[in-house]
Amino acid sequence: MVKVFRCIICKEAYMGDEKPKQCPYCGAHEKYIIFAKDWIESVVGELNETDKENVKKALQLEIDNAKFYFCASNNTKNIEGQAMFKRLGKVEREHADVWCKILRIALPEIKAAETCAEDYQEQLKDSHAREERAINFYKKAANQAQNERVKQVFEAVVEVEKDHLGLSEERMIK
Ligand SMILES: [Fe+2]
Ligand SMILES: [Fe+2]
Repeated sequence: MVKVFRCIICKEAYMGDEKPKQCPYCGAHEKYIIFAKDWIESVVGELNETDKENVKKALQLEIDNAKFYFCASNNTKNIEGQAMFKRLGKVEREHADVWCKILRIALPEIKAAETCAEDYQEQLKDSHAREERAINFYKKAANQAQNERVKQVFEAVVEVEKDHLGLSEERMIK
């Protein structure tokens, strides 16, 4: 029987027989996915200056990465890469949207970057460097966070970007 689940990170609903191991929209792990009927809306409250700065920086980082992935998806000749980068772009855009909601601003339009590498291996290297930067910054921001919701999202996205790092690592030729 199809059930209705909801992700507490991106707040999207998922309909399926089983709880997914990762949120199909933002990639958050299973522990962040609950039955939609048990939903309690999270209250963000005020952010201190450090949290606000970190969230703004995270938003910019996600926008840049989404633009890169959309460009890489358009440019690559690798058939799996086309699909993978497109999805990665959408996941990063979902993360950007989560940060926008915390900042109470509208998500800007995110289009493919005009230039990025055409070579698949170069794209994977770029992806790897981007995810590594994101993980390091998010870990630091999670530790600094005073706001509970901000802390929760930073912790969740560290895990997601680690999954993304694994995707490039498995495909890079060393
Ligand atoms: Fe999600
Ligand atoms: Fe992300």
